[in-house]
Amino acid sequence: MELPRHLAVIMDGNGRWAKRRMLPRSAGHRKGMDRMISLSEHAFDLGVEYVTLYALSAENLSRPKEELDGLFALFCKYFGENVERLVSGNIRLRVIGDPALLPPEVVRLAREGEKATEKGTRGTLVLAIGYGARQEILAAVNAAVHGGKELTREEFAALLQTDGIPDPDFLIRTGKEKRLSNFLLWQCAYTELFFSEKLFPAFTNADLDRALADYAGRERRYGKITVSTDGDRSC
Ligand code: IPE
Ligand code: IPE
Ligand code: MG
Repeated sequence: MELPRHLAVIMDGNGRWAKRRMLPRSAGHRKGMDRMISLSEHAFDLGVEYVTLYALSAENLSRPKEELDGLFALFCKYFGENVERLVSGNIRLRVIGDPALLPPEVVRLAREGEKATEKGTRGTLVLAIGYGARQEILAAVNAAVHGGKELTREEFAALLQTDGIPDPDFLIRTGKEKRLSNFLLWQCAYTELFFSEKLFPAFTNADLDRALADYAGRERRYGKITVSTDGDRSC
């Protein structure tokens, strides 16, 4: 079965998952974090090379302080408890997003995690925290303008936070909404999209397997047409 080399996930629906169980939103975020760890390990075990997880958008930073403090504490816990596991699993960690939007402790642990895992060669886990694609593109445009010369597509991509990471082949958004919410707008130009009704804490490894089977059945044409082996155009 053909696997995406790079799987991206918009992990949405934590709050609704908790609300349906009469639990605080923080309980949804905790359960979501457990799913995030299990799903990424499952994807790497299957042979996916890059897994990018949208954990917090730049726009999410305008949520109530109480929710944000809970999320930041969860990220710190994640780094504290999982970096060793990533090292032993030979997985490299990259964290993208605007550090200026995050508490210094989250940024420090993220940088330490990146440093500790930098030799990982089995796969790369990209965590997007305080990330916004328009902000990322604008920063790259401003850097390009200061550079003062016309750039190729590759040179421009190298100015993005995802420098060195191939574009996602497959993007899953859980939680029913069908939008990108400012995620990897440049990088997803030709990404296959998959929208799941399931709320992220309820999205199981088996759900991931089903989504990957859907991906395997798709034909990626990149604007071209399919030409069959005898030279005829297929319909
Ligand atoms: C996604 O779940 C996680 C974050 C954006 C931090 P939400 O918190 O958006 O959950 P819903 O969409 O309100 O259910
Ligand atoms: C998208 O979820 C961002 C993340 C999952 C991190 P949101 O809940 O913020 O998206 P909108 O507001 O429904 O577009
Ligand atoms: Mg949401």
